[in-house]
Parts: sequence; structure tokens; C-alpha cells
Amino acid sequence: MQNFSFRNPTEILFGRGMIAAIASRVPTAVPVLLLYGGGSIQRNGVYAQVKAALAAHPAVVEFGGIEPNPLHETCMKAVALAREKRVGFVLAVGGGSVLDAAKYIAAAVCYEGGDAWEILTSGGAVVKRALPLGTVLTLSATGSESNGNSVISRQATQEKLFFGSPLSFPVFSVLDPETTYSLPQKQVRNGVVDAFVHVMEQYMTYPAAAPLQDRLAEGVVQTLLEVGPLTLAAPRDYDARASFMWAATLALNTLIGSGVPQDWTSHMIGHELTAFYGLDHAESLAVVLPGVWTHQIQRKEAKLVQLGQRLWGASTATATIARTEAFFRALGMPTRLAEYDIKAAEAAAKVQKRFSDRGMLLGEHGDLTPAQAAEILMLRA
Ligand code: NZQ
Ligand code: ZN
Repeated sequence: MQNFSFRNPTEILFGRGMIAAIASRVPTAVPVLLLYGGGSIQRNGVYAQVKAALAAHPAVVEFGGIEPNPLHETCMKAVALAREKRVGFVLAVGGGSVLDAAKYIAAAVCYEGGDAWEILTSGGAVVKRALPLGTVLTLSATGSESNGNSVISRQATQEKLFFGSPLSFPVFSVLDPETTYSLPQKQVRNGVVDAFVHVMEQYMTYPAAAPLQDRLAEGVVQTLLEVGPLTLAAPRDYDARASFMWAATLALNTLIGSGVPQDWTSHMIGHELTAFYGLDHAESLAVVLPGVWTHQIQRKEAKLVQLGQRLWGASTATATIARTEAFFRALGMPTRLAEYDIKAAEAAAKVQKRFSDRGMLLGEHGDLTPAQAAEILMLRA
């Protein structure tokens, strides 16, 4: 096992009716910025629950309209409002996009450098202070409710970058599975795939003498294999929703990745597909991940075989890749570029240039080149 430092400061408030618990946790001595997306929370009753919980708060400032794959340009408008109103706490209500935007806004309000975009280009290194934030999660997928990561897009340059900071963990996150009943099937499908891939990016590398992390990771994906299809088939099955919600949180709350090598290649290439072609985050991952595993099959063979044996009783690396892609497809998720009318050669060239310009090397060994990223996309035509 590798050396590691483990710290997760987020209080999880899990279960039915738990939105009410924010009343005692949102500080009342400072104005709070209530941040949300395009209106789903007004339609499903979550907004009313949050307002009821904040009824005694003397200063709630609202900012709606955070879009999926949140834009820097939109976040800067919220930063201006937060500064004007002297906001001291951010409450994000929505999916991963609203939560990620909240983290960026909370750091940007306090940023004393020049352009807040430097928070992204530095990967979070320039974040020295940030407003505290809490969240009410309405979409299980990203794990943003219990990690310090945020992914922000910039419309002007078609970029999508991430940053991470210990100062960006939410202080608390409410996870009420009933808030997810109103999700369209497509978002549920996306969430299952995103959470599945998060586990795999921390698992599918090489044996690292970390048997507990392996078993934890396998437990999370095994749960997703069971409750993902169940949630799609029976949307108001509370127990399935609850297990899915908790699994998605544990998939990326820093626990299973502690002390093990990680490989975020699928996410890095996937973010570029979203930036260039507008694919949903999870859609991009379902296209890329089978390509990464196929391209790296020799180096990942031991873990591919282990996963296949333990999840499906499969005995070869090739079979594990096939079972994984079949799982995505059974959820109704496309796995090929052609299904989005994207030309593989064009996508490969664009991504290769991006990674070359940034001097990026990927993979658990840090030696996967931009040209190899292009080869991976060529496998996904
Ligand atoms: O904007 P509203 O109206 O709220 O609608 C949203 C949005 O259209 C809707 N929605 C959310 N909760 C709902 C609901 N509709 C009905 N009922 C509900 N209960 O769903 C749509 C998608 O929401 P979004 O927040 O964009 O989805 P998701 O949670 O999948 O977040 C995706 C973003 O997170 C980033 C992705 O790159 C992407 O930008 N990621 C963040 C990570 C992190 N912070 O750790 C890790 C991930 O790998 C990922 O990169
Ligand atoms: Zn993801």
C-alpha cells in the first residue's frame, strides 16, 4: 500500500426529510448565497423544503441558472453578486454542476490574484481561502457532495478543467433519496455510469497490496450493478435509490482511492469530448473507458481479470471489458463515437493537440502520451 493522508470533513445528512436539518447548520450571522440550476428544484418541491428550512435566516441571496457543465462566465456573475451582498456561506442545491459551481464561486470570491480562471489552470494550487459551503444533492453521480473537486467549463475557449482543494469540501451535504425521484431516466443512467467509472479510475491499475481498497471498490461497483438497473426499472423504489445514492458518494469521497495508484485517463479524455462536442459527462466516459482498457490491456491485465472473476465469474481481461461495455449498453448508454456522429479521427486529432499543448501525460504510470490518447479514441469509432 502507498503512503497516504486521509481527510474527509463533510458531514453527511442522509435520508428522508433531512433537508430540515440544514436549519441548524447554515450560519445565520452572515448572508447565505442559495445557488441552484435551471429550475428542477422548483418543480420537485426541493426549493420549497430548502426555503422552509431557511425561513428564520435573515439574509438569503438567490442565484439560479447554473447550467449543466457549469460555465466560468455564469459563475463570475454569481461571484459579483456574492461580493456585493457580502455573502459568508454558499448553499448549493442541485446536481454535480451546481455543487461544482458553488465550490468555484466560494474560492473565487476570496481569490486575490488576477483572473479567477487561474484557480482552474493551477488545478487549485492558488486557492488559499474559500467561503464555507453546504449542499443539498438532487442527483447521484459525481461524488461532489463529499469531495473537494470541481469541474468548470469556459465557453469562450471551449475548455473544461478541474481543480481540487481541501478548502472545497462541503461542510455538510444532505442526501435525501426522495429528491432524486424526479430525475429523467437519462440522468439516472448517467449517474450509474459516472459512479461506476469513478470506482474504476481508482481500481483498474495494477495490484498494489491493498486488498481492503480492492474489496471496498468491488463492493461499490457490485452495488451499482444491482441497484442501477433496479432504479431505472422501479423509479420510486426508495431502498434502491438510497443504496445508489450512498454508493455514488462512496465512489468518490477519497476513501477507496487512499493508498492505491489511480488512472484518470477516461475522465481526462472524456472532459475533452464534452468540451468539443457537448456530450454529457457520463456519455463521454462510456465511450472512452473500454478504449483505455483495451489499449492498456497488458498493463492492467491482473486487475481486469480480478474484477471479472469477482463480479461476473469471467476469466479473461477481454471478457471483463466486454461485460463492462454490455453493462453500459444495458442501461441504454451508447458506447461508440459514431452513435453521436463524431468522426474518431477528428476527435483524436483535437484531443491529441490539446494534451500536447498542455504537456499532459496520463495513466497510473504517468507515461501515456497524447498520441496514445488519440489511439484510444481511434478504437472507439
Ligand atoms: O439545472 P436543473 O434544472 O437543476 O436540472 C438538472 C440538469 O439539467 C437536472 N437535475 C438535477 N437534479 C434533478 C434534475 N432534474 C430533475 N430532478 C432532479 N432531482 O439534471 C441535469 C444534469 O445535472 P448536472 O448537475 O449537470 O449533472 P451531474 O450531477 O451529472 O453533474 C455533471 C457535472 O459534474 C462534473 C462533470 O464534469 C459535469 O460538469 N463532475 C464533477 C466531479 C466532482 N466534482 O468530483 C467528478 C465527476 O467526474 C464530474 O467530472
Ligand atoms: Zn465523473
